[in-house]
Amino acid sequence: MNSRSQDSAGFAALDMSTLGERLGNVPAIADKVGRDISQWKVREVGDGNLNLVFIVEGDKGGVVVKQALPYVRLVGESWPLPLKRSFFEYHALRRQEKRAGVGSVPAIYHFDEGQALLAMEYLSPHVILRRRLIEGAILPKIGRDLGLFCARTLFRGSDLAMPTRERKQDVALFCDNVELCDITENLVFTDPYFEAELNQHTSPQLDGIVAELRADRDLKVEAQRLKHLFAAKAETLLHGDLHTGSVMVTETDTRVIDPEFAFYGPIAFDVGMMLANFWMSYFSQAGHENNGDRSEMREWLLSVTDEIWSVFRAEFSHLWRTERNGILYASSIFEERGDTLASEQALNTVLSEIWTDLLGFAGIECHRRILGLAHNADFETIEDPDLRARCERPALLFGRQLAVNRSRIHSMDEVNEMARIIASEDA
Ligand SMILES: Nc1ncnc2c1ncn2[C@@H]1O[C@H](COP(=O)(O)OP(=O)(O)OP(=O)(O)O)[C@@H](O)[C@H]1O
Ligand SMILES: [Mg+2]
Repeated sequence: MNSRSQDSAGFAALDMSTLGERLGNVPAIADKVGRDISQWKVREVGDGNLNLVFIVEGDKGGVVVKQALPYVRLVGESWPLPLKRSFFEYHALRRQEKRAGVGSVPAIYHFDEGQALLAMEYLSPHVILRRRLIEGAILPKIGRDLGLFCARTLFRGSDLAMPTRERKQDVALFCDNVELCDITENLVFTDPYFEAELNQHTSPQLDGIVAELRADRDLKVEAQRLKHLFAAKAETLLHGDLHTGSVMVTETDTRVIDPEFAFYGPIAFDVGMMLANFWMSYFSQAGHENNGDRSEMREWLLSVTDEIWSVFRAEFSHLWRTERNGILYASSIFEERGDTLASEQALNTVLSEIWTDLLGFAGIECHRRILGLAHNADFETIEDPDLRARCERPALLFGRQLAVNRSRIHSMDEVNEMARIIASEDA
């Protein structure tokens, strides 16, 4: 039985005053926080849009408790959203930890399906990556860590690596994450391209370009082709919401959080979304120069996109050569026949398809963060709307180029040079 219960009978949302009583007798939590609940200090983090997140600290240590609500936290009961997203987050975290290694995601201590509640490692002193990028922080490990995370989770969750029976069962399990997929399908691929009710953009500054993009036939077709790919290509278990707000960092540690959108989709989706958020950070830097010039930061951000992609490619190729035990590209017709060249040719074809598609997903992500419902803090924290629009406009143009011309772009150098040119021409 794969389908999750839609029933929220017995569910009760946690609050700060009752959390100790309700979770104090859960051994896995009390072991981490301390048995004496009178010592527990509970805070709500409060910067997420969908769920409740509490930090619980006691005499022994701390945990984070995340609980889904039967609706979108930010909007309220008028926007119902099933509790089962917590189930998918839990299962995705377990698979990511197995595939990308202990320490790539927060450790999980406890999961209660009926209460849609996950207790996990309190990452401290970690900070959300997006915030560090807005502050202008250069993080030397980030490109490598994210490139490895993507290659390992995406390769090992696909039919390149997994026993196919296990994978098919897993596809069936995650297929039920319909409502969160529906959010992506509408908010990412469709709403930005017409006057959807919940859309917003910096107005009137961007009205002209927004109208142009919404009238752009090639762009609309491309966005729908990408949506088609997202919906139809159940290639691997995606994180599904992999952006710089879903990564927590210190100078030396990188953790990926919040995979509640997990779903089987195309490898290129996660990689493209992540890269887009570094490009948006690049375009937004001009809006954060009140404390000094960000030229070095800008060039570093472009170098990170280069590193993510080259580390991804190298690790994916390594896994192709050493862990290709699934049903795809069987070694019985390649290596075992002494035809390593054919295997390498197939690898290059697969990588080149991922490349072309990730550019498309990245382009669409740039649009939806500026034209849709869910904006990102990189632009939103630029208070002066004229200045914000001057940062957002080149990101929109860049996104359009990526989406429409993706099959004609062949290297990261080309993409990054395009970003520089668009930023300088449009300044
Ligand atoms: N394991 C953790 N350790 C420390 N802080 C955390 C942890 N998990 C989440 N947080 C904090 O809580 C915030 C919200 O968490 P998360 O993004 O998982 O919630 P969400 O409701 O799914 O939000 P979103 O709107 O991004 O979907 C994060 O931005 C981060 O500041
Ligand atoms: Mg979330």
